[in-house]
Amino acid sequence: MKSAVKAVIPFIMALSSIGGTLEASNSGVQIEHLGVNNTLVRITGDGNYLLLPVQESNDDAKVNVLVDGKLERTIYVRMAKSKVDYTVPLDLSPYKGHKVLLDIVTSQNRATVREAKEDACWNNFSVTDTIDVTNRDKYRPAFHHTPQYGWMNDPNGMFYKDGVWHLYYQWNPYGSKWQNMTWGHSSSTNLVDWEHHPAAIEPNGLGTVFSGSSAIDTNNTTGFGQDAVVTLYTSAGTSQMQSLAWSTDNGNSFTIYPGNPVLTLESEARDPNMFWNSKTNEWNLVLAHALDHEMLIFTSPDLKTWTLQSSFGKGLGAQDGVWECPDLFELNVDGTSEKKWMLLCNLNPGGPFGGSATQYFIGDFDGKTFKPDTDADGKVPTKWLDYGKDHYATVSWSDAPDNRRTVIGWMSNWQYAAEVPTMQFRSANTLPREIGLFKDSDGQIYASCIPSPELLALRGNLSVQSSKLTLKPKAKTFSLPSDGICEIVMDIDAGKAKEISLELKNSIDEKVLITYNSDSKDISFDRMKSGLVDFSQEFPAVTIAPTHETDGKFSLRIFVDRSSIELFEKDGRFVMTNLVFPTTPYTTLSLSSNGGNAKVTNLKVYSLKTK
Ligand code: FRU
Repeated sequence: MKSAVKAVIPFIMALSSIGGTLEASNSGVQIEHLGVNNTLVRITGDGNYLLLPVQESNDDAKVNVLVDGKLERTIYVRMAKSKVDYTVPLDLSPYKGHKVLLDIVTSQNRATVREAKEDACWNNFSVTDTIDVTNRDKYRPAFHHTPQYGWMNDPNGMFYKDGVWHLYYQWNPYGSKWQNMTWGHSSSTNLVDWEHHPAAIEPNGLGTVFSGSSAIDTNNTTGFGQDAVVTLYTSAGTSQMQSLAWSTDNGNSFTIYPGNPVLTLESEARDPNMFWNSKTNEWNLVLAHALDHEMLIFTSPDLKTWTLQSSFGKGLGAQDGVWECPDLFELNVDGTSEKKWMLLCNLNPGGPFGGSATQYFIGDFDGKTFKPDTDADGKVPTKWLDYGKDHYATVSWSDAPDNRRTVIGWMSNWQYAAEVPTMQFRSANTLPREIGLFKDSDGQIYASCIPSPELLALRGNLSVQSSKLTLKPKAKTFSLPSDGICEIVMDIDAGKAKEISLELKNSIDEKVLITYNSDSKDISFDRMKSGLVDFSQEFPAVTIAPTHETDGKFSLRIFVDRSSIELFEKDGRFVMTNLVFPTTPYTTLSLSSNGGNAKVTNLKVYSLKTK
């Protein structure tokens, strides 16, 4: 969509009056400066959107949006000072026929109004009928979910209903850095193509809308209607509290429960994850007691009244950062009739490679208490769901078909998410994945993580095919598709090799090095020279995953998008998700081995269908 700017030109001479300055403008707005950091922007033009000019390096201005004199909402926007990086739309369509006024308080220190009037934003507002969401970012993924514009972090409140996968997410509609937390909404019928919808839950009097979960209320326990979509989220005002909302139109619009908040605590707690427990016939809720490094477990008959049953986690697992975004579900252990519960426990910082990451615990759950499994020494082991640096806030879809436990994560890291070299949007989600459990030779149960089967539909032409290769120190090279977007699959038999190397490289020698080590039986991913790395000193990194294999034989599926690489073992025994920002796409794959020959069979590179 291209913006059709229909500017109404209120030709008002600049005039000074006591206490205010009224200025001419040609963009459907009238500007009145009230002092060194207070300005009114009056909408005089006709149109569906007001475009707000943003400069990312500037501080937030507080913008009170008044409709017919009543405060409609307060948003925080990095109003442009010396240049406009981009504009973000404020939807005016609900206010047609009403007077709209923005009362803006900027935070910059100004000596005089004259100086404040020079800010770039004042001449760059415009009222338009449509907005341009055409992609402008070179690093926007071709086959991962991203917001159309603005900042995104955690996936939220996902549920499956009537053939549709609904995905909500922490969204800032007014800029590409974290702020104004709102639930953005996308949906898909195939986990590949995502349709974008208007914001689902917006900040209200209790605060902004932090992470949470949804479920289908099949038994109408809430009285909101049979099969209503019910949602719990954190209202983040001065303090954090838990709020309830519901939808009777399959998650397109939500009604906020008038009795909110439904759960309050005396200390920081967030990211309510609830589910209907069909064994105990009541709702369970897991809530991150963030600073206490534990998860609180509650029960409820109706989502409105909650009873604390237990807490889990103090002193267990990784404890460095805050505990956030839990999820709890039961799974079958592969190849057995055993069932186990898995508790996802995201934490930030304190991940294995710095910053944010997802740890999990396997154990038993009786509806009230989670009892973790221990290892041979009686200790509760720390386990990681993904061994890359860019996988966080992973949670699952409720009510997924065929007993699937499908998850998605935020593909970034709090260490540098706000600095990555994109502008129009910031952050994508990982590929959707299917979680399973397997018992390893150490007697422990681990999570497996495979790409959701729907992703096979992405495969296009085969650009490389080689049924049998012997790897030696001299690399064998293959051309990747020219846009670099591909899925690489291969079966590896390390044989006597000490090391196997897979290198993805572009024309200017930027590269990613993936190395399997036969002694340690782990696999590493080196992005130190992968392209743009110096936007944050935390970005250049080598991540390492245990492969859980014993005989040097394993198979890989590697998904390469414009700014990410996800490396899966075929059966999901390890997965690694890392962002990369090559100046030009990686177009060569080199394979080699050291200390002995290795075998690669069924090497295939598929181009992937891009939009
Ligand atoms: C995790 C998190 C959550 C919180 C949300 C706010 O990334 O900090 O705990 O609900 O982000 O955007």
